Amino acid sequence: MTDAKKSIHGEWSSRSAFILAATGSAVGLGNIWKFPYITGENGGGAFVIVYLLCVALIGIPIMIAETMLGRRGRENPVHTMQVLSKEAEADKRWHYLGWLGMTGGLLILSYYSVIAGWASAYVFKAFFGSFFGADVTAIETLFRDFIGSPMQLIFWHTLFMMATMLIVARGVDNGLEKSVRILMPSLFILLTLLVMYAMTTSGYFQGIHFLFNLDFNKLTGNSLLIAMGQAFFSLGLGMGCVMVYGAYLPKNISIAKASIVIATVDSLVALLAGIIIFPIVFTHELNPSSGPGLIFETLPIAFGSMTGGWLFGVLFFVILVFAALSSAIALIEPTVCWLVESKGVTRERACLQSGLVTWVLGFGTIFSFNLWSDVKFFGLTFFEVLDYLTANIMLPIGGLAIAVFAGWMMKQQHSRQELDMPDPQHYQIWLFLIKYIAPAAVFLVFLHVMGAL
Ligand code: PHE
Repeated sequence: MTDAKKSIHGEWSSRSAFILAATGSAVGLGNIWKFPYITGENGGGAFVIVYLLCVALIGIPIMIAETMLGRRGRENPVHTMQVLSKEAEADKRWHYLGWLGMTGGLLILSYYSVIAGWASAYVFKAFFGSFFGADVTAIETLFRDFIGSPMQLIFWHTLFMMATMLIVARGVDNGLEKSVRILMPSLFILLTLLVMYAMTTSGYFQGIHFLFNLDFNKLTGNSLLIAMGQAFFSLGLGMGCVMVYGAYLPKNISIAKASIVIATVDSLVALLAGIIIFPIVFTHELNPSSGPGLIFETLPIAFGSMTGGWLFGVLFFVILVFAALSSAIALIEPTVCWLVESKGVTRERACLQSGLVTWVLGFGTIFSFNLWSDVKFFGLTFFEVLDYLTANIMLPIGGLAIAVFAGWMMKQQHSRQELDMPDPQHYQIWLFLIKYIAPAAVFLVFLHVMGAL
């Protein structure tokens, strides 16, 4: 039934186009900004291993499942789940999964855009030589003064949201493919160069030790949840983004292979970011658990003192902004797609509406770093609540639902046909992971955290 149908928004021109776009959605602030600071806050090595295990055992199977649901449904997450639950003769309420995803996407984007705004501002700071010769205190002051100013943060957040809306209004296949094609290799080259720099610092081995040393005593129940949440966040799973991208996927592409490539690239970028940041942290005796400001307080020190630091600094933040843009597009796309398909509004209008809501919400995050820094809910600022709620609760629940639907509700003949794996054993492995391992893992982590509360 759904076989002949194409998405009304167009299709990826090739397998590599899909891989590029999906990698663009996966690789972003999650890898470069968030992974290092939460690894720092959660004690290093053991956390990293749990994170990588979550990517392999939960992330990849769910990514395969989510892409598959998207390609079979070929529409926005809500409609896709309606179509698929009908086909599977399952409960109609499965389409709430689409709602959960769209809401999660906008909530994430509201703070994602604020942080991407920081990165944008840092492009200019790098360009105008603010890091040049600056010591640790100067870099810290620069950052504190910056996030202490609501007006500046509002300005950059607004700029970033406008850029996102403009790009999304033009449609996903226009431009996105091309920009990611340049972006990803440049990001890799730049990260490799920075790793080479990190190797020359005196804190290199200490940094590597921190990142890969397995001290499981440092792991709490909450860190388990954060590691799992990060696997979902970093791969962009559990909220319909992958589903929407899957909807634009032509029939003849192997979903499993694509998912494995994307997850590998994504994890590599995160690890490289860690390998760059922690040596700098230890060289300058900084605190690895200093929170969301970590990359903004460490990298500029390196850029300010290394040869070619000006160029590296500008390039790094430019690439970071672009990587964030390609993720921001993925975060808003499910909602835009839904507005266009079911409310009949134009793409431009859909972008404007969802963008405005997100923009306003972003003020909560902005104020969390200044005016409202003392306003706490359960000991957390507005930004921290939003981050915890989306990454650690909404995405895993979305992912769990996807796993249960794909593993238990959908007819196996359909998933087998859709995945079309050449080796039947591969299908069995995926089925086992998606039916038992992924849901059990998510469930156990939730249970563990609730027990710990
Ligand atoms: N994966 C993106 C990142 O790591 C963020 C994202 C989350 C994108 C959820 C889409 C969906 O930056």
